Amino acid sequence: MMKIGLLGHGVVGSGVRRIIDEGRTEEVSGLSVKRILVKDQKEVSDERMTLSYADILEDEEIDTVCECMGGLEPAHTFVLDALNHGRNAVTSNKKMLATYLDELMSAAEENHVLLMYEASVGGGIPWISSLNEIRRVDEIESFRGILNGTTNYILSGMNEKDADFDEMLAEAQKLGYAERNPADDIDGMDVRYKTVLSCAAAFDAVLKPQDVPAYGVRYISKEDMAYAKEHGRVIKLIGEGAASGHAVHAFVMPQMLAQNDYFSMISSNINAVECTSSTLGTAGFTGQGAGSLPTAHAVVQDLLNLEDHRTMARRYLTARDVDNHDVCRVFYIRTAKPEVFTGIVDQKINEHVLLTKKVSLEEIDAILKQDETAFVCGVNE
Ligand code: HSE
Repeated sequence: MMKIGLLGHGVVGSGVRRIIDEGRTEEVSGLSVKRILVKDQKEVSDERMTLSYADILEDEEIDTVCECMGGLEPAHTFVLDALNHGRNAVTSNKKMLATYLDELMSAAEENHVLLMYEASVGGGIPWISSLNEIRRVDEIESFRGILNGTTNYILSGMNEKDADFDEMLAEAQKLGYAERNPADDIDGMDVRYKTVLSCAAAFDAVLKPQDVPAYGVRYISKEDMAYAKEHGRVIKLIGEGAASGHAVHAFVMPQMLAQNDYFSMISSNINAVECTSSTLGTAGFTGQGAGSLPTAHAVVQDLLNLEDHRTMARRYLTARDVDNHDVCRVFYIRTAKPEVFTGIVDQKINEHVLLTKKVSLEEIDAILKQDETAFVCGVNE
């Protein structure tokens, strides 16, 4: 029986404990949560709970550490210590893993253990394991995804109910989709971490999060949504990645999609992600990208894959630079500083809104550094 040390008993951790304790299937009955690390004496509600990580690390029976704490520290140090003590580890913490990917994957490799992260991208959607399975047959060429439930909830409400940004953000927070600091959701950082982890699973590439251009929806207005609608389009926040020769493209940006695009129909807080490979073509996955039980489901799937000794996740990752110079688009821009964009304007919609000529993502990224409150949106062909 796999004996698990669970770190954190919040939204995700409590879901993991519940699924394992209920043991509804024969497979799940083979898992056992032996200890649970909590932060505060007030949280202690079960005899397995402890305030000391040493109780988990020094327990020789515990073979797997499952990190559902969130945040960078102490989650990072705890996972590193677990790997260095010969434990397999599972994490749902995209920010921590994307930030320390190289170090943690190297530690897993050196200690001949595995580090699994299904739940950290797309919540309950079996995305990382699907990439691994597809890669047994074929190389992944590209992927794109709606990977943040909060912003999809906001954009869907603005589009369908003509609602305000702030009203929809408050609803998403109330429903428990948003991060503790929703800046990570609305500024595209959460999708950036998920894009970095998807590039690792799809291309064996370790990208530095700060190298991946990321634009969010903080500055979107009702007028932008209305413009998209008038032109038969829908705005979605998308993370994309592609491997082309030695280059890895990766970026996060709102995009105006045609109404019949698969992603245009993905509403509410639902996530969707698709990848393309030459033999499979394009395959899409849709589901709950956040929430206690869907995310916990993905954590438990990782635990079962470890139990089955499925070592698909043992891949050798390499540090790579992000290269977006040949990703070219038309961009829709709302700006308080239209003069910054003079050299690339194709059409002025009004004093503050313009469409650019087709330019590279590298070029627009450099120009946008002069106007940090612009709303930018790729216009897909
Ligand atoms: N804040 C994230 C979201 C949670 O809204 O998708 C899941 O990663």
